[in-house]
Amino acid sequence: MRTRPLKVALLGCGVVGSEVARIMTTHADDLAARIGAPVELAGVAVRRPDKVREGIPQDLVTTDATALVKRGDLDVVVEVIGGIEPARTLITTAFEHGASVVSANKALLAQDGAALHAAAEEHDKDLYYEAAVAGAIPLIRPLRESLAGDKVNRVLGIVNGTTNFILDKMDSTGAGYQEALDEATALGYAEADPTADVEGFDAAAKAAILAGIAFHTRVRLDDVYREGMTEVTAADFASAKEMGCTIKLLAICERSKDGASVTARVHPAMIPLTHPLASVRGAYNAVFVESDAAGQLMFYGPGAGGAPTASAVLGDLVAVCRNRLSNATGPGESAYAALPVSPMGEVVTRYHISLDVADKPGVLAQVATVFAEHGVSIDTVRQQGKDGEASLVVVTHRASDASLNGTVEALRKLDTVRGVASIMRVEGE
Ligand SMILES: NC(=O)c1ccc[n+]([C@@H]2O[C@H](COP(=O)([O-])OP(=O)(O)OC[C@H]3O[C@@H](n4cnc5c(N)ncnc54)[C@H](OP(=O)(O)O)[C@@H]3O)[C@@H](O)[C@H]2O)c1
Repeated sequence: MRTRPLKVALLGCGVVGSEVARIMTTHADDLAARIGAPVELAGVAVRRPDKVREGIPQDLVTTDATALVKRGDLDVVVEVIGGIEPARTLITTAFEHGASVVSANKALLAQDGAALHAAAEEHDKDLYYEAAVAGAIPLIRPLRESLAGDKVNRVLGIVNGTTNFILDKMDSTGAGYQEALDEATALGYAEADPTADVEGFDAAAKAAILAGIAFHTRVRLDDVYREGMTEVTAADFASAKEMGCTIKLLAICERSKDGASVTARVHPAMIPLTHPLASVRGAYNAVFVESDAAGQLMFYGPGAGGAPTASAVLGDLVAVCRNRLSNATGPGESAYAALPVSPMGEVVTRYHISLDVADKPGVLAQVATVFAEHGVSIDTVRQQGKDGEASLVVVTHRASDASLNGTVEALRKLDTVRGVASIMRVEGE
């Protein structure tokens, strides 16, 4: 074993960073044996230097992250600050000054992954980010390496624990959205401002990263269609139950049937209770991958939290350190396929539409005609009437999102349709 240690700088020492530091210290001997050289924590950049940080020698702590990454003697910089800046500049500066980078920053990678990969390649350095998608669950490496000889057609995932916790609560207790969110906040599963989670921004960033790797194509955050889950109601869950389904916020990355394009989207969807993703409870994450040769694979586990996320960071750290010792770099960006990302209108799936209609003869025929005129074929219709009003639940066969939108627009114009109570996609069949 080499005795000269590999030097690692930690940018950020919060929920994830403090666990990375702890494991680096407590597992130092094992890590050294696995890497082939000891690993030394060379500096820790934070915002508040006076905060007590257990196990971190005070002389390693600095608020000058830029000076730290410019030292020139670092082997690896671990970025766990989060956000776009200063993380982006610190990462590129680290490459320029000779270090490889491990990051957990989904927002940055989804927005600027291509530029960061280019910077890593220019300086012949590694950029690893297993922790950026679904915490501890190995996904990036399986997609990038284990499945490199296969053709991935679809990635369907629950990649946000907060929203899964809320939806699971609504499903199991009949609670409304706000009540379930309040419980998630009280238990620490939701942040004070839950927008990034409940509006699907966090899942969309992960979808962009997964789609890019799965399809060897650049997919940016802006390419991902996004709908949050704040409008999901207890009535939607009741409807889902009647169909033998539950509701999950899904990140869906798909190759088109002809293989010529891809799509990436995040939205709530009904999935059959028999689908493996339906049984993912609480704040857990799971990703279902479908590929030509391997068939169906499911990756499941804790998608967040300090220690689970640190596990993924440490795995990357070991890989990058091994590469440094053998003067090599691991796989970089693979975007050779350069498939176009199709707009949401071209996505084809099934729909569950709930309409409030007048309870009188001929309404059903009128509604059915509108579906037919837009080329959307109906699978089942369920009608419930009371006091001159009725609710009509229509489940369609597979249709394009554009056709469905046209249908809904026309339905809204019918005098007999009082309102469109909900529209939900049905996935995983
Ligand atoms: N938490 C999770 O479960 C989880 C899961 C997967 C991925 N991630 C990702 O991991 C990253 C870190 O998340 P986290 O939850 O650990 O965040 P966090 O608890 O808020 O920690 C952020 C750390 O960065 C430091 N920091 C902030 N701005 C800085 C600056 N300008 N210069 C130097 N240090 C600065 C903070 O310093 P102070 O300590 O002084 O405030 C803190 O130590 C994010 O990209 C996040 O998306 C987190």
